[in-house]
Amino acid sequence: MNLPNMRDAAKRFKKAEYIYENRTNQRIYEGKTYYIRTYGCQMNVHDSEEIKGLLETLGFSESKVLEKSDFIILNTCAIRENAHDKVFGFLGRLKHLKEKNPELLIGLCGCMAQEESVVKEIKERHPYIDIVFGTHNISEVPTMLEKYSGKQKISVYSKEGDVIEFDNLYKRDSNITAFVNIMYGCDKFCTYCIVPYTRGKERSRLSKDIIKEIKDLKENGYKEVTLLGQNVNAYGKDLEDSTTFSNLLEMVSKTGIERIRFVTSHPWDFTDEMIDVISKYDNIMPYIHLPVQSGSNNILRLMNRRYTKEEYLTLFNKLKSKVKNASITTDIIVGFPGETEEDFKETLDLVNKCKFDGAFTFIFSAREGTPASKMKDNTTLEEKNKRLQSLNKLINKYSKESNLKTLGTIQKVLITGISEKDKDKITGYTETMKLVNVKGSKENIGKIIDVKIIDAKSFSLDGEEI
Ligand code: 5AD
Ligand code: SF4
Repeated sequence: MNLPNMRDAAKRFKKAEYIYENRTNQRIYEGKTYYIRTYGCQMNVHDSEEIKGLLETLGFSESKVLEKSDFIILNTCAIRENAHDKVFGFLGRLKHLKEKNPELLIGLCGCMAQEESVVKEIKERHPYIDIVFGTHNISEVPTMLEKYSGKQKISVYSKEGDVIEFDNLYKRDSNITAFVNIMYGCDKFCTYCIVPYTRGKERSRLSKDIIKEIKDLKENGYKEVTLLGQNVNAYGKDLEDSTTFSNLLEMVSKTGIERIRFVTSHPWDFTDEMIDVISKYDNIMPYIHLPVQSGSNNILRLMNRRYTKEEYLTLFNKLKSKVKNASITTDIIVGFPGETEEDFKETLDLVNKCKFDGAFTFIFSAREGTPASKMKDNTTLEEKNKRLQSLNKLINKYSKESNLKTLGTIQKVLITGISEKDKDKITGYTETMKLVNVKGSKENIGKIIDVKIIDAKSFSLDGEEI
């Protein structure tokens, strides 16, 4: 994708330094409020934490009430086409708000803002959007706001630059669990996926910066970190010091933080060394999200996934046998162009063999600019929906089975807050990433406690403090 405003990395790095050293005490928006709505993956959630941090340095404070905010930002996702409809539907609402309150600022950022066609659409048809910035331009937000003069401002780099260290300038949503970026971008180019175009090539943070951030989090009372990357186990491939993801995991483990998780792993980059490290250290959680996408070798090849069904199964079984109580979840796409009934049966067969603890399932969505969007696709949407339903039925069956296995057991649960379903209960996650609603004292929020599991549903467990 060829977007304007390309700058070189050095210039951008200077810019970020400038913002942090010279701008952070200029609170030009003191007394104003912002509201941010985030779509998509954890990476976007974490980007929003960064945007919030930056806005607060300008004097903004967060508002939870859309209608009462001075600056409304949509942090968008581009992974599937319906995300586009959702965002533009919501923008229609914001346009009305702005008609009533012309002072309102509207911002749009995230992966959709990296799409050339979306930027064009905004320029031509949505003049009421004030600020648009791409995934590589977050550090520019203060400058964009400072220079805003009532005319739409767009800043989207087509090329990513070097990693910019934000020195932990995030406003994190939780003070118990934290996301920590370890790398940005993806070089895998799965043929259906837009991420390599919106997030750019793989760039790893230096391990010393990651470890410093995690030590700070630990000192500030955080109990859990989730290492984030589109493809975490490719960590370090771009670094000169040849640190691997296994090395990094080991270093993170040695910080002594109580719980470590990581998402997302690509089967192709999963090494034996990684499995050894995960099984060796108690604070690395035995939970692995390992997207398979399809069980058909034909479709896996068309997807450019770089592994066969058999290779995936070998890795899966190795993980199950070497990592105690390993819980493995996955992502599956149905209705990829050319997927036949036979191909789909291969996927069901793989699910029957793996009995995943859980899975996210999707109908293929053609994304402009990706190779798969140009592939011949003869399957009707009706047929794809049927496949999705039968897949979901199977997935839910195994997810429930996996949950039922925990009945009567004692699980270590990190309590993160009050249960959304029942305000008299507290809630948290097991080591294996199962959500538990717990009868117990609110004083346990932020602690890891022993919980006896008394009921198991498809998507959550019930328990009581012991
Ligand atoms: N269509 C459907 N699903 C997709 N995913 C990524 N791109 C597409 C697409 N074009 C799914 C994959 C990925 C998850 C985050 O989203 O399963 O693992
Ligand atoms: Fe997309 Fe594939 Fe990269 Fe995952 S590994 S972000 S699916 S290109």
